[in-house]
Amino acid sequence: MSCAHSTFRTRTRGRVAETVIGLPPKEATMSIRIASGLSIYAPIVRLARRVALVLVVPVVMAGCVARSTPEETGRTATGAGAATDDLSPQTLADGQRTFRFETFGDEQFWTDTARMHEVVQQGVSPATALKVGLKVDADAIPAEVAQAIKEGRVDLNSPATTVTLLKLNAVVGLKGTVVTANGKDSLARLGITCALCHSTVDNSFSPGIGHRKDGWPNRDLNVGAIIALSPAIPSAKKAVYNSWGPGKYDPRFNIDGKSTPLVLPPAYGLAAVQNETYTAEGPISYWNAYVAVTQMHGHGNFADSRLGIDIRQSPDMVGPKLAALRSYQHSLEAPPPPAGSIDAVPAARGRSVFDDKCASCHIGATNTDNNSGKLHAPSETGMDADYALRTANRMYRTTPLRALWQHAPYFHDGSAASLTDVVEHYNRVRNLSLSDQQKRDLVEYLKTL
Ligand code: HEC
Ligand code: HEC
Repeated sequence: MSCAHSTFRTRTRGRVAETVIGLPPKEATMSIRIASGLSIYAPIVRLARRVALVLVVPVVMAGCVARSTPEETGRTATGAGAATDDLSPQTLADGQRTFRFETFGDEQFWTDTARMHEVVQQGVSPATALKVGLKVDADAIPAEVAQAIKEGRVDLNSPATTVTLLKLNAVVGLKGTVVTANGKDSLARLGITCALCHSTVDNSFSPGIGHRKDGWPNRDLNVGAIIALSPAIPSAKKAVYNSWGPGKYDPRFNIDGKSTPLVLPPAYGLAAVQNETYTAEGPISYWNAYVAVTQMHGHGNFADSRLGIDIRQSPDMVGPKLAALRSYQHSLEAPPPPAGSIDAVPAARGRSVFDDKCASCHIGATNTDNNSGKLHAPSETGMDADYALRTANRMYRTTPLRALWQHAPYFHDGSAASLTDVVEHYNRVRNLSLSDQQKRDLVEYLKTL
């Protein structure tokens, strides 16, 4: 019997309240393959079991287990890929468009299931949107509208203004489809893009409004609070989403039901980095497919037998976009520290402290020993093990240090609020006995990385 038989197809019509996250699209065809003993990807599996347990069990028993193919997971795709990326202007423009504006069809979740278009239209004014950390792209606002905002002639407390901003494609990371009937705009569809969590703006117009900074994590964004606005989320889950706070997101909560939120990481400075994520799950395209399909709820394929996930949705709106998206991310360089922000003499002394105490793991130009596959047990760096235990590798990657000046707080869980806290942490857990001056010097050096 071919393994293909362990795939069942179901057409799902209508919504099932408790299968909120990861619910298949209303009209599209989705197939899910289930591995034996699988307890993850619970919402989909619960739905799947209800619909088709009878179909699946005999096949699993016949010895057919979920298998992930490299093409689907991207796991064997080249990671430190700058050399293999197509960096032509055309491809980079494609990748940028995907990063900023592509929803991969995730309106199937944010609109059809989560009803976020209604939430926004009914109650999210620009003032509220800015308060939960959403950013506005000043370059997408026509000059006369900008002038009207400056002069206080635009009502920033009206949800209708948010709909107008969405119509202008000016809200970073949100993609709205606005229809106009009888002279009135209404928000018909809403989806999210990569830029939601991995872009911010430079506040050049006003706080929260400015030029885009792609790759800079949005540490103001309260993703959990935004998701919790959905009427389709049961209250127990809302409580968890509301507990995360700004700048954090748990990319596995909807799969294993646990909650150990991660700091939103920068997406820049990765050109020579082999494996992405705090736990080095795989190269960039692996993780992009994971996020696009399982978190953004885009319409595409993702499979990883280590996690027991195998989602197939036809047509695949994710896979064909991954290569250009990767090129674009690899082209994003870590921003250098602002001029005049580094004190050169202590920074030079700090470099020797770093070479002595830190460079055994933070090696080479990327500042990580993971390019050779190395991982670290949480105890080696005094880290909380809870997140790692939920992942395929169960250990942490030495984080490639890049633009540290830019993205406090640090560590996967944000447990160090500042670089001083980072140094104090290592001094304590690795018994470094650093003097106060060495600590200050080391901080000054870290700001240069
Ligand atoms: C809802 C917020 C959110 C969205 C949307 C999102 N990400 Fe992420 N991203 C995260 C979080 C949280 C992590 C950290 C995961 C980890 O390290 O385990 C992450 C990790 C990453 C990393 C790894 C960074 C590193 O240090 O290795 C890259 C690259 C990345 N995302 C790119 C993307 C791309 C491309 C998209 C769109 C396809 C996207 N992300 C969509 C939240 C998001
Ligand atoms: C035993 C290997 C090891 C040593 C030695 C080590 N690190 Fe790390 N470093 C790691 C790992 C692993 C992480 C990821 C920890 C996490 O977030 O869970 C990390 C994360 C970091 C981060 C967080 C980066 C970010 O963007 O969040 C900083 C900063 C850092 N280390 C600085 C240092 C400094 C300074 C030293 C020397 C005092 C040092 N490290 C020594 C392995 C090491």
